[in-house]
Amino acid sequence: MTVTDRIALDPFGADIPAETARLRALGPIVPVELPGGIPAWAPTGYDTLKELILDPRVSKDPRKHWKLWPEVAQRPSWGWILGWVGVVNMLSTYGDDHARLRKLVAPSFTHRRTEAMRARVEAITAELLDALAAAGAEGEVVDLRQGLAHPLPMQVICELFGVPDELREDTSRLVAAIMDTSDPSPEHAAFVQQQIGAVLGGLIAHKRERPGDDMTTELIRVRDEDGDRLSDEELLYTLLLVIGAGFETTVNLIGNAVVALLTHPEQRAAVRDGKTGWDAVVDETLRVHPSIASLPLRFAVSDLTVGGVTVAAGDAIITTYAAAGLDPAHYGPDADAFDAARGADDHLAFGIGVHRCIGAPLARMEALTALPALFDRFPGLRLAVGADELRQVPSFIAFGWQEVPVRLHG
Ligand code: HEM
Repeated sequence: MTVTDRIALDPFGADIPAETARLRALGPIVPVELPGGIPAWAPTGYDTLKELILDPRVSKDPRKHWKLWPEVAQRPSWGWILGWVGVVNMLSTYGDDHARLRKLVAPSFTHRRTEAMRARVEAITAELLDALAAAGAEGEVVDLRQGLAHPLPMQVICELFGVPDELREDTSRLVAAIMDTSDPSPEHAAFVQQQIGAVLGGLIAHKRERPGDDMTTELIRVRDEDGDRLSDEELLYTLLLVIGAGFETTVNLIGNAVVALLTHPEQRAAVRDGKTGWDAVVDETLRVHPSIASLPLRFAVSDLTVGGVTVAAGDAIITTYAAAGLDPAHYGPDADAFDAARGADDHLAFGIGVHRCIGAPLARMEALTALPALFDRFPGLRLAVGADELRQVPSFIAFGWQEVPVRLHG
């Protein structure tokens, strides 16, 4: 196929597995169009994605390596991409800049630092389950996304970063707006840019006035002591990245795992009987239904050939975690089936290489706390609607359920 035959990705992400299979049938890496008509290459399988992510000739810095970067400002329908690649933080930098920005935050998310948060995560989970039990005591339908999957990681990340109560609702709305790729209008993009300044600028102002024992205060201190390590802009966008990535992804991990178990009763029984571990449930969820289905954007620093296709210097590439997880060449002909017993822990859902997720231990610990606690507390838990009535969040990036309506007692 030629690059003129670009396939437009569904901006709503309504059926990502089916779209992934269609693209895979066209080759190992195919030309696609992101919302608003942004051209990019999409790897369609595990090996190709891994090869590209690990290739040092693939950058994440649009300012240095995207040949269309000068055009973004001229094209209003491309403005939405700025929320992803126009914000300067570790996710959109390359080489030394990336190493500098990552070093400021990554040490706070090691396994050891994460363990120190376990007791707090358990306490928040217990409070949320109590509230759910009260709301669903008479057999009412309750939404597990609103009642558990969302508030747990949100509360944890807000405590870590000292986000005051009055900014939490706006923070949640801002991150949902960035994840919503169904509206590439200039108005939506302008709203996001305005809110980044208002909400996270508001957080920085708040913490300057009232410093605390939190990571926002720590980053402000680094900024004030040494502007070469962290500029004002990088401070704002680092907060956006770590707070945003810090809850929205884990919300979908918990929601997706709950739905996977509720729709696979035999595997739920295997977990209950100790035949399958919760770790395996989490990994299988991340493989089949990764919280980030795909992520914009990477850029070829020089011409490179992958899967027999030449990606020219300056071209954009989207990283496709769902395509990798569902690849039959790697996981076998039943790759699209949820089967926690298969023990596939080599998924790429947390990325790989220098940009590998810094929050993976935290996300995993939250899920491994919430899921067993939920299923132990409510052994009769069941979906309140048919699985085919569940709706995906409107995004080709975020991959999760908008609501998870359940009844707590069978
Ligand atoms: C289920 C939960 C999560 C998933 C699936 C996930 C997924 C990912 C993926 C795929 C990447 C790699 C991006 C790339 O290579 O371009 C990444 C990076 C990142 N994640 Fe996560 N993430 C999760 C949870 C978290 C949490 C809880 C935090 C924060 C505490 C976090 C913070 C970050 C940051 C800061 C990066 C950028 C690392 C870099 O560019 O060097 N993530 N995540």
